[in-house]
Amino acid sequence: MRSEVLAAALAAFVAVCKAVPTPSTYAVHEKRSSIPREWNRGSRVEGEAILPIRIGLTQSNLENAEAHLMDVSHPQSPNFGKHWTQEDVHDLFAPSQDSVDAVRAWLAASGISENVVTHSDNKGWLAFDIPAWQAEEIFQTEYHEHVHSTSGNVRVGCDEYSLPEHVREHIDFISPGVKMSATLRKTEIKRDIPASRHHRPGPMKKVPDHFHHWTPPSGAGKLPADLQDCGRNITPVCLKALYQIPNAHIKDNVNQLGLYESGDKYSQADLNSFFAEYAPNVPQGTHPLLDSIDGGEAPVAPGSEDNTGESDIDMDIGFSLIYPQTITLYQVDDEIEANTDGGFNTFLDALDGSYCTYTADGITGDTPGFDSEYPDPAPGGYKGKLQCGTYKPTRVISVSYGVSEADAPPNYTRRQCNEFLKLGLQGHTIVYASGDYGVASFPGDDSDNGCLGDDSTVYNPSFPTCPYVTNVGATRLYDDQTVLDKESALQADLGPGAELFASAGGFANYFPVPSYQKSAVAEYFKNHNPGLPSYVANADATNVGANGGVYNRAGRGFPDVSANGAQFRAFNNQTDFHFYGTSLAAPIWGSIMTLINEERTVIGKGPVGFINPTLYDNTWVFNDIVNGSNPGCGSKGFSAVPGWDPVTGLGTPKYPALLGLFLSLP
Ligand SMILES: *[C@@H]1O[C@H](CO)[C@@H](O)[C@H](O)[C@H]1NC(C)=O
Ligand SMILES: *[C@@H]1O[C@H](CO)[C@@H](O)[C@H](O)[C@H]1NC(C)=O
Ligand SMILES: *[C@@H]1O[C@H](CO)[C@@H](O)[C@H](O)[C@H]1NC(C)=O
Repeated sequence: MRSEVLAAALAAFVAVCKAVPTPSTYAVHEKRSSIPREWNRGSRVEGEAILPIRIGLTQSNLENAEAHLMDVSHPQSPNFGKHWTQEDVHDLFAPSQDSVDAVRAWLAASGISENVVTHSDNKGWLAFDIPAWQAEEIFQTEYHEHVHSTSGNVRVGCDEYSLPEHVREHIDFISPGVKMSATLRKTEIKRDIPASRHHRPGPMKKVPDHFHHWTPPSGAGKLPADLQDCGRNITPVCLKALYQIPNAHIKDNVNQLGLYESGDKYSQADLNSFFAEYAPNVPQGTHPLLDSIDGGEAPVAPGSEDNTGESDIDMDIGFSLIYPQTITLYQVDDEIEANTDGGFNTFLDALDGSYCTYTADGITGDTPGFDSEYPDPAPGGYKGKLQCGTYKPTRVISVSYGVSEADAPPNYTRRQCNEFLKLGLQGHTIVYASGDYGVASFPGDDSDNGCLGDDSTVYNPSFPTCPYVTNVGATRLYDDQTVLDKESALQADLGPGAELFASAGGFANYFPVPSYQKSAVAEYFKNHNPGLPSYVANADATNVGANGGVYNRAGRGFPDVSANGAQFRAFNNQTDFHFYGTSLAAPIWGSIMTLINEERTVIGKGPVGFINPTLYDNTWVFNDIVNGSNPGCGSKGFSAVPGWDPVTGLGTPKYPALLGLFLSLP
């Protein structure tokens, strides 16, 4: 059926496409080891079907990219805060003219007419549409349809493809190719049974009859009434007390907090209930400003099945900590694609047209059904063009979604990571939740227990392990503790599948330890060697699990920082629950960095941008977390210890110290 539609669009191309490629020595350029989870190989693509081909050209100057980022982000650099414009970034990384010429010449010699090949605005991509038989010929491959097991979506891919030796150095990758988009998943939030049926819901008037069942922790009596039960019920008042965050008062035009959501949608009624109960300073009806990306829509009615709590809690935390400042909601992907494709890419496309695989000339826009492109032909799918550079990114963006690093090939992942680097160069702070299954990914990701290796015992880092984002783990108080006690790493038994719910952390397989983190990680190994077998990952990460090792001793460590992620009280579908997970911790950090940027704006300074180098250089601004661990994959995982650790990172924020630090920088 699909092929008929495509065959109809074919006629125009056939005539120009009969030339035989010039003989060259081909070599395999990309190869995958297996078909991604949840996708099944379908039939061979019809030879006459038109494929929208995109060639990602090798970018220039990437070898210096990290040095440029450090130049504007390291607290000791004279250029701290002197961020780049988007144009500066495009100019530096654009592929060389040699690369463009070499690839164009090869295409012409292969019978692809010059005038059907378009070049994207930023010069990073070549795009053209050709029949499958011809693509198979010039890439020496076979294209198959792949069918998603639940959504039924169809995408085209191949197991491997080859390119002539003389063009390989100019090409990052070809799409469609070996990359099947990764399944994107919310960093899991877990709710227990409705709080009002489970616990006395804190010092509130609603169910005072339960009050006498509870003995407050010793020491709680000295605290104000609204801080006496933070061990069991975390509220905005508790968070402010834990980290000494003052009540917010600034609203300006440049420091909206950006929140990423996909698939899940907030409900205004739930936000209103939260504000009324836990954040009375936020007026009823307060809502984010929607930047809809590729058909993303929000809000929904509280009873909608799209309202599972992730968006509700992100908005609750954001507004309760930064109101009167506003929130920009990036609601990414339509109903069909949300959570089934590598949504970070469509998100990045919308923020920076230079990353887009779409060429804006309409050539690829109307070829339905392939390669997760928009418009989406499925019923209810988004019918517009893929959005490219449509929105200006906010200065701080918090994301509580993630995948496992192993879901995509290293080079694809690194290209995405470079996009985060470019956002850092432009002064944006990108905050990601680390994940919730300790040293594993979520159950079912890569294996039943979310682990790697033949017997599923190798730790599975959750992406983004990219060293250019700030990765946030989670902490908790126990029931008998108060905000004056030290927090522990988040660990909780939340029932089947989440018995070891714990702050995700460990070491990346795809990224080596970055310069800013080297001494912190070296200290960790020197003083607190975890005593677990390890390996050193090679450049393409093909030796993960070698010699019985369970983690990459040379990898980028994560998380960087942490914040409370347990027993948070919030409404979902109009019911008051306890929430758990790093999903809570990331927007706390997003909110804090927003408050700090506001204070800098007041004194005429620019945004802080990429914060990791400053944080690793100033560990005194943290509450060091030294208790708890993150088990998984059949082993004990890592432990929280003095200094940086792969469970809670550097620790939780001491807001006044953090603010003072960033105000002191240029
Ligand atoms: C990944 O990229 C590097 C550098 O461009 C290249 O040398 C390597 O062959 C690529 N790996 C694969 C599996 O394509
Ligand atoms: C929301 O709550 C209502 C009323 O309790 C219930 O009927 C509905 O099924 C709930 N929605 C979801 C998605 O659970
Ligand atoms: C330390 O963490 C353990 C769980 O690993 C917990 O049972 C214990 O209560 C914590 N101790 C303190 C003092 O927080």
